[in-house]
Amino acid sequence: MPLALIVLAAGKGTRMESDLPKVLHRIAQAPMLWHAMRAGYRLAPDHTIVVAGHGANAVEAAAKDYDPDAHIVLQTEQLGTAHAVGQALPLLEVFDGDVIVLYGDTPFISEETLHAMTEARRTHDVVVLGFEATDPARYGRLVTDGDDLLKIVEYKDATEDERAITLCNSGVVAADRATLASLIAEVGNDNASGEFYLTDIVGLARARGLTATVVRCPEAETLGVNSRADLAQAEAAFQAYMRAQAMEDGVTLAAPETVFFAWDTVIGRDAEVEQNVVFGPGVTVETGARIRAFSHLEGAHVSRGAVVGPYARLRPGAELAEDVHVGNFVEVKNAVLHEGVKANHLTYIGDAEIGEKTNIGAGTITCNYDGVFKHRTVIGKNAFIGSDTMLVAPVTVGDGAMTASGSTITKDVPAGAMAIERAEMTIKDGFATKMFNMLKARKAKQRN
Ligand code: UD1
Ligand code: CA
Repeated sequence: MPLALIVLAAGKGTRMESDLPKVLHRIAQAPMLWHAMRAGYRLAPDHTIVVAGHGANAVEAAAKDYDPDAHIVLQTEQLGTAHAVGQALPLLEVFDGDVIVLYGDTPFISEETLHAMTEARRTHDVVVLGFEATDPARYGRLVTDGDDLLKIVEYKDATEDERAITLCNSGVVAADRATLASLIAEVGNDNASGEFYLTDIVGLARARGLTATVVRCPEAETLGVNSRADLAQAEAAFQAYMRAQAMEDGVTLAAPETVFFAWDTVIGRDAEVEQNVVFGPGVTVETGARIRAFSHLEGAHVSRGAVVGPYARLRPGAELAEDVHVGNFVEVKNAVLHEGVKANHLTYIGDAEIGEKTNIGAGTITCNYDGVFKHRTVIGKNAFIGSDTMLVAPVTVGDGAMTASGSTITKDVPAGAMAIERAEMTIKDGFATKMFNMLKARKAKQRN
């Protein structure tokens, strides 16, 4: 069945107290909107329409970042959820299939749940996602009779009896496009809020003799974000989920509660992540790799058997091949480290390519930036970069070459050659002893 997604994201999110539209606040380093879109995209929709209003330009940019083919419609005035859906429907005028409505601020709806909804659509005209609320608060209440959903009552409009219902509306709705459009056209705003409620389509559908039902999901999936406190709670819930998922997938987490994942972190089986590790977006860690304590990784790929940290930093474009070791206080950015490269201490490798089994000594720096342009450093395989080498890019060091400790390398080093750049050392016999004696005598005099 062809499918279209409508993601409602026009609301201001007043309680966020923010200049940023609510749906652009981040969870696990991705805008909430991306989480909501990702949930819907698991159903492989044919069309996606994001309804934007507050901060529409920024919302549009974020939606397009996620999927350049997503459509954005503007809801200039937020007249209610039915009105919001109504803004999107004209784009689907010739679309023959189902529509699922998601909220941009409800980021954690699972794939299973959405599948259960499409499944329920086989037998019912309108499917609403509900949940048993521990605290039903101001959620819309689902009035049911067995499997049938009779109507949805908004809290403000509910009677005492209806308010006692704990089965609540998540906001997610599925229906055939044509049916949805004709129901939405009938929705009025004669209610406590003066808004056009999407929830009214259930009662309207029933009045026409159509069927409606509820699919239930765990409350955790419907976690909505309305305030910074909710945002922190959503972050914590998502981190807990990611940790549990990683361990289920065979990743060892020494102290799970100290590891922070990004929304898209991928870690292979039998990888090990030690304490206090932070993953930024775009990281993949292959099976058997080890991420040691206090490391920070973003936009990086770590291959099998590689060891990162403790205290390492991998920045975007860091590509570590198998068995690479990147140790303490080593930063790698936009650089390929081929198999078996070792850079174990106090090093910056940026805009570089380093060949197999090359050893990078402590304190090595690729001087990649001249203040205006970035330049590349290319080092061959089996090379030895002596400690405290400055590699002034653009520069190339050949296979099996060596640089002497403390050298500033400004010219290419041929394969097999050694480059040394150092002032000549001199020895002054007895000088240190004489100097210390003199200084100690001075200090003794000051004390008297
Ligand atoms: C809505 C439901 C309620 C449900 C709750 C779950 C209605 C009438 N009520 O209430 O039954 O329990 O969600 O969280 O649907 N939006 C727009 N344009 C608008 C209005 C809203 O895009 O004109 C978007 C908001 O940005 C938000 C979503 O729709 O992402 C929900 O709107 P919100 O005002 O938060 O609805 P609730 O009052 O929470
Ligand atoms: Ca809400």
